[in-house]
Amino acid sequence: MTFNNFKFHKDLLKGVRIAGFKEPSPIQKMVIPIIEKGEDLVGQAYTGTGKTAAFGLPLMDKIAKKEIERALVITPTRELATQVSDELYHLGRFCGIRTITVYGGVGYGRQIALINKGVQVIVATPGRLKDLYKKGKIDSFNPEIIVLDEADEMLDMGFLEEIKEIFEYIPQNRQTLLFSATIPEPIKELANDILTNPQFISVVGEDESTTNNVIEQFYYVIEEVQRDEAIVKLLETEKINKCIIFCRMRREVDRLSEHLKAIGFLVEGLHGDLDQMERERIVRGYRRGESKVMVATDVASRGLDVKDVTHVFNYHIPFDPQSYVHRIGRTGRAGKSGKAITLVSTNEFKELQRIQKEVGADMKLATIVLDENLEDISNNFTSLQTMVEEVDISPIAVDFIDSMEEMDYHEFVERVVTLLIQQKRPSINQLGFDEETVSSMLESYEYKQKTVRKDNRKKKRH
Ligand SMILES: Nc1ncnc2c1ncn2[C@@H]1O[C@H](COP(=O)(O)OP(=O)(O)O)[C@@H](O)[C@H]1O
Ligand SMILES: [Mg+2]
Repeated sequence: MTFNNFKFHKDLLKGVRIAGFKEPSPIQKMVIPIIEKGEDLVGQAYTGTGKTAAFGLPLMDKIAKKEIERALVITPTRELATQVSDELYHLGRFCGIRTITVYGGVGYGRQIALINKGVQVIVATPGRLKDLYKKGKIDSFNPEIIVLDEADEMLDMGFLEEIKEIFEYIPQNRQTLLFSATIPEPIKELANDILTNPQFISVVGEDESTTNNVIEQFYYVIEEVQRDEAIVKLLETEKINKCIIFCRMRREVDRLSEHLKAIGFLVEGLHGDLDQMERERIVRGYRRGESKVMVATDVASRGLDVKDVTHVFNYHIPFDPQSYVHRIGRTGRAGKSGKAITLVSTNEFKELQRIQKEVGADMKLATIVLDENLEDISNNFTSLQTMVEEVDISPIAVDFIDSMEEMDYHEFVERVVTLLIQQKRPSINQLGFDEETVSSMLESYEYKQKTVRKDNRKKKRH
């Protein structure tokens, strides 16, 4: 099946062709005909499976064919709003559809002026959109199609009230589409509230072929104190293009990113304490490859679509199985393969089992035995280090290093130098406990759980 089957406007098909899309993804195949028919819809598919085009194409097709005049897309964050409107622009530019993005943190004037000039598609974040409706600034914009994109993330971010309020301003005779990677209970309720006889389409079944993602999942069982060491070893041994390291807390993001920077990795930390401008700068740099390692909290990385993320690391296993799904969905995008690696200590067996059970995650236990070759290299390195330590570094050498930077050796130089400067890093010869050890750890964990449950029952009876 190709995109030609959909009978889209020819200018739209041209955009699709130039974007290099060959075959519609499973979610696209399923929802596009329904949207074309004008029905309401809840669409569920993992991140990276092409949900944007799944609603974007039929929506722009209807505008191009003058079946409708205007559409509204609501997304959780400014980054996502920009991503969506970029994608709409690329696919729809030959139809000359006028799209704007509307978000908070900047002045109202320009956005209002653009709306009044007569746009066809608004991509907006909930907060600013609600404000504009309240101020009566977009009454003239009557959307005939409304899309709630990444709805689960919007609810997680606490936008439920804003969304409900927005819908009070929107006319009833409309087509409403809701897209989400997960459909927890509050999403169902919201759908019942604002959608009319929606079709539920889900392509998140067991069947691998229904997703674009090919993500290999591994976990290492380590001791609590080994986390930093483990991450560094993994960064050194895995073949990484770009990666994201997920932490639970902002503090942890700051600490770990500083630590990795000091060792010489190209790292940025991303979390909600940073202001919008700063976050955008970081994401842009990461997208362009200026930083290779992003250390982030869940919230900060919501919906981030960056190509060529080869690895996702969970510095700690997430508490919540759904957030595990979100995290690993940052890699393996657009049909590329990816690797998700989780560090687990014995304190986290409970979360590990929940994730394996509830989302059916196929996680394989892994260990790295550091072979002699690596030992050799590190021995050589130690003697080199001693040599360098005995030499006074002259200003000339410093200049030389500076000029080497211009030779595109930047990353190389930075790493070698910081490795040299860094005093003895403890060397370990195995990372992650082996299968036998882990299974006996698990046994004793389960035994403990059972006795705890028994004790609780006894206590209840007394
Ligand atoms: N049919 C397709 N063929 C190839 N690439 C696609 C197709 N549909 C979408 N993509 C690309 O896949 C990536 C992920 O799509 P996106 O819509 O952001 O996913 P989601 O919203 O489901 O997380 C984007 O870079 C997009 O351009
Ligand atoms: Mg999306």
